[in-house]
Amino acid sequence: MESPPGPTRSDEFMPAFTHHVFVCGNAREPGHPRGSCDPGGRQPLRDAFKKELKKAGVARTTRANHAGCLDQCEHGPVVAIYPQGIWYGRVTPEDVPRIVARTIVGGEVLEDLRIADGCLNNPDCPHRAGTAG
Ligand code: FES
Repeated sequence: MESPPGPTRSDEFMPAFTHHVFVCGNAREPGHPRGSCDPGGRQPLRDAFKKELKKAGVARTTRANHAGCLDQCEHGPVVAIYPQGIWYGRVTPEDVPRIVARTIVGGEVLEDLRIADGCLNNPDCPHRAGTAG
């Protein structure tokens, strides 16, 4: 029996994917205290990533996936990039070209978008408690 086509010797050590971009597309009912990353439910951020990844020539190795709530709602719209473990908040479609160019392609963490360590996955985050601006 013939084996299925697999990686050649030259691309054996090349990861199939370098990044997965999880884009929260959760839509809650209006007025919900935790808000929604995509209140319109139209996935504009995910679509912007798909377009920009293609434009940058990295769509084969970086996937932009629609995600449900990533539980960092108070910082939304939220994007998580793995396996690098980079979390960005308050992301707009206008931010997507520089995220692709500087983070995906360039490997740089954009500090102005990064969710602070003290906030990420912290139930006592002041943003979650509604005490921060
Ligand atoms: S609604 Fe997007 S992180 Fe919860």
